[in-house]
Order: sequence, then C-alpha cells, then structure tokens
Amino acid sequence: MKYDKLAEVYDFILKVPPFVFLRESEDPQIRKFFAKVLKKNHTVLELGAGTGYYTFDIAKRTKSVFATDISKKMLDKFKEKGIPDNVKIGVLDVNKLPTNKKYDVVACFGVFEYVEDFPSVFDKISKVCKKYFIFTAPANTFPMQLYAMTFGLFGAKIVLYSKKQMETLLEKSGFKAKITFAGNKDTLIVLAEKHNL
Ligand SMILES: C[S@@+](CC[C@H](N)C(=O)[O-])C[C@H]1O[C@@H](n2cnc3c(N)ncnc32)[C@H](O)[C@@H]1O
Repeated sequence: MKYDKLAEVYDFILKVPPFVFLRESEDPQIRKFFAKVLKKNHTVLELGAGTGYYTFDIAKRTKSVFATDISKKMLDKFKEKGIPDNVKIGVLDVNKLPTNKKYDVVACFGVFEYVEDFPSVFDKISKVCKKYFIFTAPANTFPMQLYAMTFGLFGAKIVLYSKKQMETLLEKSGFKAKITFAGNKDTLIVLAEKHNL
C-alpha cells in the first residue's frame, strides 16, 4: 500500500514545494464549500481522510464524522494528532463502500486519482449520501494528461474527466453538481447536491 509507506512523511511533504502549492491552490475553495453547506446537525462520511487534514475543520462544523481511509498507517498518524470527540475512524476502501448506512454529507479529497470506475463509486456514494457530496478530482488538462500518462507506464490508471463530463456522470448518479477549478486549474472541486432535496 503506497500510502502506508508515505504516512510517516505525508504531512511534511504537503508543507513544502511543489506539493504545498497544490494544497494552496485547492484549499480556499474547499473551505468555502464547507462554510456554505456544513451544518451543526450534519453527519459526515469522509473517504480517504488520510492524516485528517480536512477532518478537523469538518468536525468543528458538524455533529459527527466517520473518517475513513484505505491506509491504516495514514489513520495512525491522524490518531497521533488527537482525534476530536465527534470523530470516529476506520479502514475503508472507497471502491468497496458498504451502502447500509446513510450520512448527510460525503467528503473526499485527493482520492479520485486512485479510482478507476467513477460511475460505480458515484452510485454507491449516492446510496449513502442524503444531501451533499463534496470532493476533488483531477481535471482533464494537459499537465494532468502528462501525469496520467507517466503513471500509466507504471500500471496506475488515472481517469480524467472534463467539467461537463463530470456533471453528466454525477447527474446519472442522482446529483446536481456545482464545479469549480482549483487555482492551478488541474483539480476539479465539486459540490454535488442530491436531486431529491
Ligand atoms: C492525497 S492523500 C489525501 C488525504 C487527505 N484527504 C488530505 O487531503 O490530506 C490520498 C489518500 O487517499 C487514500 N486512498 C487511496 N486509495 C484509496 C481507496 N481506494 N480508498 C480509500 N482511501 C484511499 C490514501 O491512503 C491517502 O490517505
């Protein structure tokens, strides 16, 4: 598991160039969406929470968060920071999301680089999400195409969607999406609302 190996240095790496610029380019818009939709009575499922970078903010604004990740080591680093009282953590693969429990909000940042079958994952998320699905995904830009091609040589399949394609895909899974770009234009920042609201 790649992130098990990265866990020890992940927080440090995200604070130094060039990675800090990626974080800075998406952070303001993500927090803006938090301020817009998160409410004190919301229950939240976070997928790929990692070391909890966004979880602390989400937890302050909501009733409870189930923060999950495929990497136990990333969650262990999160634990070292002190888990807030209204947060529970658990190991979970976004591709194998169980659909037996519902949450008001599903949040997922920096994880869709590792998802190949967006329609199937979106359908599952739609089953567990009552109100909002907030997430980031790689945009279909030239730098991201190069990135995807390079990782493709090593067997990783990174799937890229345009803003329009992403809207259509989400529509099929029951969401109406408001999509913006991160400052660097290489990441889609998506606030998707369930149709039945
Ligand atoms: C770039 S990090 C983002 C972590 C955190 N959301 C943040 O913004 O700092 C990607 C995270 O996705 C997790 N991840 C990768 N594949 C996953 C999967 N299939 N299911 C759940 N989490 C996954 C990794 O373990 C890692 O913690």
